[in-house]
Amino acid sequence: MFPKRKTLIFQDSFQLTNFLIKKWKEIANESISKNNRFVAALSGGKTPVEFYCRLSGINDFDIWQKTHIFLTDERYVPYDDPRSNLGMIRKNILDYISIPDENIHPMGTYNSDINLSCELYENHIRQFFELEDRCVPSFDFVLLGIGDDGHVASLFPWGKEVHEIDDLVTFSQPEYLDTKRMSMTLAVINNARHVVVLVTGNKKAEIIKKVIEEKEENSFLPATKVAPRNGELLFLLDNPAASKLSYGERFSHDGQAISI
Ligand code: 6PG
Repeated sequence: MFPKRKTLIFQDSFQLTNFLIKKWKEIANESISKNNRFVAALSGGKTPVEFYCRLSGINDFDIWQKTHIFLTDERYVPYDDPRSNLGMIRKNILDYISIPDENIHPMGTYNSDINLSCELYENHIRQFFELEDRCVPSFDFVLLGIGDDGHVASLFPWGKEVHEIDDLVTFSQPEYLDTKRMSMTLAVINNARHVVVLVTGNKKAEIIKKVIEEKEENSFLPATKVAPRNGELLFLLDNPAASKLSYGERFSHDGQAISI
């Protein structure tokens, strides 16, 4: 059992988001007081949209001035394409908060060569964290969703990129997807101080049970490989997503723990 790994189950996505907003503020304030900055990597998809919308309501100028937003992954499309993760994050958060442009770190998707784009983003991360070669950055906060195939970020089952240990940024294009994808590797994700996996809705109940309670027999699923070495791992679920789980810390509507 991982020392800092928890499954928290909330009545609904609104209560889950209340918890996550509080957690975000705690980690941001702790990171800023320690390092004078808060460095987060955000995922795309539909699940985090409610959280992003509510996050945009935090009008704490000082926090946003010292917050840096990276992406865990990106579809290889122009930013104005409706599939763009940066476009979605801009639309739901960045356009409403006082974050300096230089604090937004998108994955570049304009090169015809995606491999070059991965190298450029990796170099940018290394420069930002002032990393020696072969060192891995430690993000303060990484937010992940999970696909019903068990992917996280854009690391897909059976993809060679899942096992990448040297690079910080890789790319993939499973045949069932309409775009190539750039993604941070598990080396980066598992070096973060706080990793949150956000799972809502009954469509995710099956896969999250495999990931949380049947890890061994599903170890090919990238989500089962999310295991921060020294950081905290939080699975945040609403009741529908947790409907097949046997255990987890449940919270009532007023946020009180119900059962462990
Ligand atoms: C993306 C995400 C991806 C997402 C899962 C879940 O670029 O789509 O980074 O990893 O978290 O696919 O997506 P939903 O939240 O839409 O179910």
